[in-house]
Amino acid sequence: MRHIVVTGGAGFIGSHCCVELLEAGDQVTILDNFCNSKPETLDRIAEIIGKRPDLVELDLCDEQATEQFFATHTVDAVIHFAGLKAVGESCQIPLTYYHNNLTGTLNLLRSMGAHGCKRLVFSSSATVYGMNNTAPFTEDMPTSATNPYGWTKQMIEQILMDTAASDPEWSFVALRYFNPIGAHPSGLIGEDPNGIPNNLVPYIAKVACGQLAHLNVFGNDYDTPDGTGVRDYIHVVDLAKGHLCALDYAETAAGFCAVNLGTGNGASVLEVLHAYEEACGKTLPYVIAPRRAGDIATSYADPSKAKTLLRWEAKSDLLTMCKDSWNFTLKHQ
Ligand code: WQD
Repeated sequence: MRHIVVTGGAGFIGSHCCVELLEAGDQVTILDNFCNSKPETLDRIAEIIGKRPDLVELDLCDEQATEQFFATHTVDAVIHFAGLKAVGESCQIPLTYYHNNLTGTLNLLRSMGAHGCKRLVFSSSATVYGMNNTAPFTEDMPTSATNPYGWTKQMIEQILMDTAASDPEWSFVALRYFNPIGAHPSGLIGEDPNGIPNNLVPYIAKVACGQLAHLNVFGNDYDTPDGTGVRDYIHVVDLAKGHLCALDYAETAAGFCAVNLGTGNGASVLEVLHAYEEACGKTLPYVIAPRRAGDIATSYADPSKAKTLLRWEAKSDLLTMCKDSWNFTLKHQ
């Protein structure tokens, strides 16, 4: 049985990943400081899968606590989700973002390396494709960012690359997520952001259950089929499964590699809204609002590297993603 440590395992993507790992028979330990998640999520994971992940409540920025953990546990591999992730907030408190995301990762890597655990799957983002590439995005395109959150992802990828170059025993897979949405089909775990959501589908969910009056569509004058922004939405369960494929790959290959996790299909804001209307059986009001700063017209993956290297591809369509989001929303409003 492999022992997999999941940092940020109580979060949206992390919790779905823990379900998949436990289902595959792995021993799972979550390291989480619950700064943007709840301990109850572990109960939900246990309810879904009949097994409970171990938990160590720990902040990776606490160097001693991180070191203490790796000094006292034998770990086969780490999946590293822990980090702050709100784009707008990262522009308001950039130093908090740089400190938290970078220091946490450096402490993690140092302690892992010191105790002979040299395999890590990193939660990266398609945000590293910046504003100057044209979709479909391929992993060999130049990376950049448009906000501190995005820069932390880009910088961490660089740190992993340099670490791999310094020591051939390390194995890193950076997974570049496109737009993860949906929820576990059980409706027990999903995305439940505090306050008014920044991301499209959580916002639509709040309109659908009457907590927000209407969706603001950020621009309808983009160079896209209906003028609204196009993104590659991917079901969080498909995404979670991609991490298990990445772990298997990391067992066989050393060095650093970056892999897109997306469907390869773009959907516009209005297409997502209409799919959600079908999922919840209601008409959802929207107004056209100005463009949001930092948004690009079109983002979608070339998913072929994931298919050939990881033997993974996304299965769920947009309607299923919206239905699973709505099912979760109904249970948690
Ligand atoms: C999708 C589309 C908006 C809200 C962001 C981060 C990325 C990653 C995922 C993770 C865009 C439009 C949105 C709304 C709208 N971060 N929109 N009205 O910006 O592609 O990616 O989340 O942790 O790094 O940048 O996702 O869901 O915010 O937006 O019209 O109220 O929906 O303009 O076209 P985005 P999103």
